[in-house]
Formats: sequence, C-alpha cells, structure tokens
Amino acid sequence: MTFKELNNFFKKEISLLYSDNEIQSIYNIIIEEKLNLNKAQVYIKNNEKVPKIGYFINVLDKLKKGIPIQYIIGKVYFLNTILKTNQNVLIPRPETEELVNWVLSSEKKNKKIKVLDIGTGSGCISIAFKKNRSEWDVHAYEKSTNAIKIAIFNSKINKTLINFKKFDILNDKSDNVFDIIVSNPPYVPENQKKNTSKIILDFEPNEAIFVPNNKSLIFYNAIVNFSKKSLRKGGKLYFEFYSENLIKIKHILQKNKFHNIEVKRDLNEKNRFISAIKK
Ligand SMILES: C[S@@+](CC[C@H](N)C(=O)[O-])C[C@H]1O[C@@H](n2cnc3c(N)ncnc32)[C@H](O)[C@@H]1O
Repeated sequence: MTFKELNNFFKKEISLLYSDNEIQSIYNIIIEEKLNLNKAQVYIKNNEKVPKIGYFINVLDKLKKGIPIQYIIGKVYFLNTILKTNQNVLIPRPETEELVNWVLSSEKKNKKIKVLDIGTGSGCISIAFKKNRSEWDVHAYEKSTNAIKIAIFNSKINKTLINFKKFDILNDKSDNVFDIIVSNPPYVPENQKKNTSKIILDFEPNEAIFVPNNKSLIFYNAIVNFSKKSLRKGGKLYFEFYSENLIKIKHILQKNKFHNIEVKRDLNEKNRFISAIKK
C-alpha cells in the first residue's frame, strides 16, 4: 500500500467518527510518530510503499473502536512539552495552551513568583509554566491519585521540578499563599453529555470534564473561596470556563472583591478565559 492509498484508507475507515480535517491530523501524527516523517516529507513520498504497514492497520483498528489517538500513541504535544497520557487524565486541549500562553505573556519574566495550578491532570499547565519560566516556584494540586502519578512522570520526562500535592479543592485547606492561581477545572454541565462525542464519553475521565447541572459553578466558587486565604493581595486568578457561564463567573469574582477583570476568547471566538486581581 502506498502513502496515498493509506491516507485514503484512513479517510474511508474512520469517516463516521472524525471530520476530514481531524482524520488528516491523526494521519500526520502517526506517520510522524512511527516513521519520523513530517507532512511535507510524506507528500513527496505519496506514491511510495508504506513501511511497517502492520502498525498503521493496528492503529486504525483501535481508532475504529473509538480510542483517541493520544491514548493510542500514549502522548500528546502541549506547547513545547511532550506529555504521557492515558485514560486517567484529560487529554490537554489546544484551548488550554491558549490559557498558558495568556498567563506567560501577561506575567513579567525573571520574577520569582509562587504559582498554583488547581486540577493539574496530566500536569500540562504547571509543566509548561516551569519549562518556560524556570524561576517560578510551581505548585500543582489534584484530587485523583492516578492523575498525579502521570503528572509526576510527565514532570520528570520534561525535567521540571514541580510541587505536586494530592488535594481536594472542594474539601481540603492549604497554608500556602500564592502570587498566581490558575485553573482549568471540570466545567461542562452534565446535560451537555448528549452533545459530546462518544469517544470523549467512553475514554476520557468524565469527572475531569463534567459537573452536575445544578452545580456548574462549584469549582469557581470553591477556588475563589480558597483564594481568600491562599492568594496574596494583588495576586491574580486565571480560569478557563464554559462560555455560557461568563456572567455568573464575573459575578462571583466581583462579589468577592476581585477587580481588573479581563475576559479572553479562544480561537473559536468563544469567551473561554478570565483573569482578575484580588483587592
Ligand atoms: C478539566 S481537567 C483539567 C486537567 C488539566 N489541568 C488540563 O488543563 O488539561 C480538571 C482536573 O481537575 C481534577 N479535579 C476534579 N475534582 C477535583 C477536586 N475536587 N480537587 C482537585 N482537583 C479536582 C480532575 O481530576 C482533572 O484532572
């Protein structure tokens, strides 16, 4: 089978699960992963025979079962880091890269500040912070023991020193005080499961994504409350959030005397990120 034929085979076999663009990006990822060839290099080889074809057929079988490509190859690229992923952690999303970039571009370099990432999952946010701001003292809290294991592994392979802590933001207390707190907490209301792809529902940890419909702000309330003691005066809070909740989240921040509220849209033009300063 040639590269061109393999590409078409992918398009035919998984067209019910993925859009054309998604299939193309999956195809590029696995070709790069197995054969170390980038998009341009593959294009030139379009009529050549694909080596190690068994691997690609095997990947295709797994994709047809709905297993996400990031779990099949066991890793994901996030900014300038490579992270191990499995079914215990949410696959880091491009939106969250935007959140990290926003924080990095908003905070001055060479300041020795103490930063906390709440609900670290794979560790993507804290590892990207430490990799790009080695002077920061980065802490990461997470409730799931299995997720922390992956996050610790990821911090090691990226050679970043991070203080991980098993911590339940809805129940635990901390004595630490931070300059910046960042969180991408679970925020999708459960009634949105009907609009969520089966791949996400079947393979990603649902408790990392969904919140009960009547408690969709539970993590924002808890983190703002936690910030009363654990964020210094003048410190900054950054959230990723469900766009429909913008007004309510703004209200929580204002009610708790946060000011300089800034809202940022994601690449799809949805309100997705918010920051505020503690008075
Ligand atoms: C949306 S995921 C974000 C993961 C990662 N930070 C990212 O951006 O890809 C939310 C994370 O919060 C964690 N989490 C859920 N409930 C929590 C709680 N009560 N306390 C701390 N972390 C919690 C989940 O296990 C999950 O890893």
